[in-house]
Amino acid sequence: MKLVVTSALPYANGPIHLGHLVEYIQTDIYVRFLRLAGEQVIYCCADDTHGAPIEINAYKLGITPQELIARSFQEHTEDFEKFQISFDSYYSTNSPENKEFSDLIFSRLRDKGDIYQKVVELSYCPKCQRFLPDRYVRGTCPRCGAHDQYGDNCEVCNATYATTDLIDPYCAICKSVPARKESEHYFFRLSSYTDRLRAWLLENKNLQDEIKNYILNWVDAGLKDWDITRDAPYFGFQILDDPTKYYYVWLDAPIGYMASTKHYCQTHGDDFDSYWVKDTGRIIHFIGKDIIYFHFLFWPAVLMGSGFRLPENIVVHGFLTVNKERMSKSRGTFITAREYWQKADPSYLRFYFAANLSHSIADIDFDLNDFKDRINSELLGNVANLANRSLNFLKNKLNGKIATADEGEYRALYDQKVPAIIDSYYKFEFRSAIRGILELSDFANKYFQHAEPWKKIKESEQEAARIVSTCVHWVRDLAILLKPVIPLICQKLEQQLNLPDLTLQDLGQSLTGHTIADPQPLVQRIDNLTLIGKGIS
Ligand code: MSP
Ligand code: ZN
Repeated sequence: MKLVVTSALPYANGPIHLGHLVEYIQTDIYVRFLRLAGEQVIYCCADDTHGAPIEINAYKLGITPQELIARSFQEHTEDFEKFQISFDSYYSTNSPENKEFSDLIFSRLRDKGDIYQKVVELSYCPKCQRFLPDRYVRGTCPRCGAHDQYGDNCEVCNATYATTDLIDPYCAICKSVPARKESEHYFFRLSSYTDRLRAWLLENKNLQDEIKNYILNWVDAGLKDWDITRDAPYFGFQILDDPTKYYYVWLDAPIGYMASTKHYCQTHGDDFDSYWVKDTGRIIHFIGKDIIYFHFLFWPAVLMGSGFRLPENIVVHGFLTVNKERMSKSRGTFITAREYWQKADPSYLRFYFAANLSHSIADIDFDLNDFKDRINSELLGNVANLANRSLNFLKNKLNGKIATADEGEYRALYDQKVPAIIDSYYKFEFRSAIRGILELSDFANKYFQHAEPWKKIKESEQEAARIVSTCVHWVRDLAILLKPVIPLICQKLEQQLNLPDLTLQDLGQSLTGHTIADPQPLVQRIDNLTLIGKGIS
């Protein structure tokens, strides 16, 4: 089987922040785990470059959209590298492959009669000479009368409406009053996929129940056809056979998953169809809970209609909060990836997120004190301490040569913890995996403490060697089990163990007679860390 795993494509008009990183770290841990297990897997992603906001922001900055997305690409890829996100392909939706797939899919849907044209009435700014996307029209809520609300919904009473329903609307770009103007758009017949979508949702046993129920409610309430085109000026692809229209960004964005896979295949001599068309292929998407409508309804329907494989799973995670609240620029809790890596070690954030991630859409809180405590007590005080004390003892007192472990002790703990940890990784339950890892390490530390090898060595070097070697076997297992989460730290540990490139197959194997290299500290204590700023008013 050939598996392609994706994360949602980050928008190219803003920096990567800690909220995004929940998703990229979650996906990366899963992919690294599968690689360790010997699975054939590629991790594909891209910048999401199209849409009105990119075009408008570039205009405001006095640069072209192409320049804007090139800048973001640079920054995003640098951030991802710092956080050790191991993409096999990181591409752009503004690519020739994406244009080809978008046209192919559009033509297949059109030829089947799944696309039709319809005239719609939209808000149009005569001064800016453009149709205004929802968020670029503001005005008074038609329901509760709250002032200065967005064009699609009211933040005060939660009403949803069309931009043309707003009272006293104004253009968010130039503040002038928008007019109504008609335009002919292309619609995708999502409604005719209702039964097929329902069947797919019900049959797919991998999907999270909480999400599935949500989506089924939407399906039962009736699906509306989907407007998949936009008018110029727009930054995107002109549609097939009609240069006056552009594909709506949410049509070509998920197609970017395919384009990124295609790019990987072209540069690595691999076969695109073996992932997205043939029975050998498997597809897993990771996304946040704000974009489930697109991924559980539009995207599967588009795939069904155009003859591509459907995802076998879509893993949905919750939102990152900072001190229990939504990240906010005004509170200073909007932390970018860059601000973080300039001050703290990305491995620590990976560990912290893993320790809080489960297969659920519950939000994850970044609490700076909890973060500091867990790194200092768990990563440093528990895991690194075990590695440090056992490798140092072995190196300094026993020439670095591993003896036969106490089989009974070693095996008992191994059997009790390791299979469950592996199972947790497969089930996206990283929090339980980390819990199991910490319990294993904690037990090993206590064993070392009670067995007192520093005393035993005075009477029997052999006995001391047995105790310490038992611990070194556990350390080797921990180095493997933590590799998906903190790959760089584990790589250092592998060097110290003199065991490069450990995989799941090395778990539980005997190391008798093997000589380790020089132990070094693995983790630094965190003392003062200021990540939460003063905020901007
Ligand atoms: N461009 C679209 C996705 C297109 S996929 C074909 C998009 N981009 S995004 O930059 O806004 O978000 C990218 C991913 O990061 C989404 O899955 C989103 O849910 C996730 N997150 C963005 N902010 C987040 C938090 N604060 N917390 C957790 N995940 C969040 O949506
Ligand atoms: Zn305007």
